[in-house]
Amino acid sequence: MTLSKKPYKGCRDFFPKEMRERNYLFEAMKTTAESFAYEPFDGPMVEEVELYKAKSGEELINEQIYEFTDRGNRHVAIRPEMTPTVARMVAQIAKQASKPIRWYSIPNLMRYEKPQRGRLREHWQFNVDIFGAPENLGEIEVLSVVSQLLESFGATKEMFGIQLNDRKIVDYIFNEIIAVDSEISYRLYKIIDKSKKVDRQALEKMTSEVLTEKSKQDAFYEYLELDSFEKVTNYLKGHNYPRISEFEAFVSKLSNSQASEFVEYDPAIVRGLDYYTGVVFEVFDKHPDNKRAIAGGGAYANLLQIFNEPALPGIGFGMGDVTLKDFLISHDLMPKMDHAINDVFLTYLTGDGEAMAMSMAKQLRMKGLKVETHLGVMKFKKLFKTAEGKGHRNVALIGEDEVKNNTITVKNMVERKQETFDAQDIESITNFLKQG
Ligand code: HAM
Repeated sequence: MTLSKKPYKGCRDFFPKEMRERNYLFEAMKTTAESFAYEPFDGPMVEEVELYKAKSGEELINEQIYEFTDRGNRHVAIRPEMTPTVARMVAQIAKQASKPIRWYSIPNLMRYEKPQRGRLREHWQFNVDIFGAPENLGEIEVLSVVSQLLESFGATKEMFGIQLNDRKIVDYIFNEIIAVDSEISYRLYKIIDKSKKVDRQALEKMTSEVLTEKSKQDAFYEYLELDSFEKVTNYLKGHNYPRISEFEAFVSKLSNSQASEFVEYDPAIVRGLDYYTGVVFEVFDKHPDNKRAIAGGGAYANLLQIFNEPALPGIGFGMGDVTLKDFLISHDLMPKMDHAINDVFLTYLTGDGEAMAMSMAKQLRMKGLKVETHLGVMKFKKLFKTAEGKGHRNVALIGEDEVKNNTITVKNMVERKQETFDAQDIESITNFLKQG
């Protein structure tokens, strides 16, 4: 049997170029999260399958989870998401930690999906979560984190938006206005979650299977028409929503926040995961090629209770590396990363220069520079072409004269300037290379 060179279906190999791109995305994620004082954390790849069964929802459990029995007969799963893990970890320290707890991570996750644009079996997901934040302010903070990250790449409101809803509103409309029980309500949630992916006919078919009365169907469709903060607020006021002042306070705070220009109310956002209890949102790409959400998240008030801990409200989001990269490429925001970025290509043109080059390379590396040495004598004719091909901005060369005079010649390939330094003057050589 010949072994395949391809990675497992729906997974990627990261060659150095892809790794550079991945690091670029991760660096921006870290910088943004840390600019809001979030701290990094990590957890295990594998968890007890029960952790996901508790609250993640049927689609994830029935269709997407990679589960197996280990050698000790434990039923485990490869993590399909990070929220249950972060909740489990926060549950260990919640009592003594000062609040709010602000954590982020960038784990790889596995879901058994049909690979397609924006969807793979393995992806990396930027997770940002805050626990124990005061009412409304946690929601506004995580919305600010996600919009700031996209803005840091140069994205504007013409390129992305954030669709937001509140499950407390949806629950009220379903339970009190349409007046259905919790089982029907759960099924309506699932219909809404699919509503954007199907046409009107399919939506009506799904709805009529769950709601038999015409008046209830009409009330459901009326809800789906409430596509702005203004419309939903007026509707809720007309139907005596008891939390209306809380919702209005949220909308008012949101309108003063840095995320405000991106956020719109959307009744069709409820999210597929079961643990959300309040605000839910998805970041969407306005480019027609990318129909998948770039990020999704929301508030979950009760997740810590599955560990018999007191409730501690959590709010967060996950952003996938695949959808983020598609977004950046489609809007021409992804820099070209064809070459490694090193500071200098250090070469010698005669065998006599070898020891000097090695010593120089060591000293420059100690100064924090990235130095590639050409292993062996370099032919002058090939020097600049080779350096350019490798993406070097600086070339340092030790030729016959340099050996004789104990000097080194450094050339900045971009600005086309060249200088010869005393080989002992590491300080000046470093400064020249750092400028380049
Ligand atoms: P999610 O909506 O399942 O939420 O995933 C969040 C994001 O991860 C999606 O919007 C998408 O960008 C990316 N994503 C998910 N599945 C895949 C896949 N198969 N291939 C590529 N990208 C994917 C959650 O996972 C929640 N746990 C997020 C969260 C954190 N909520 C609160 N805190």
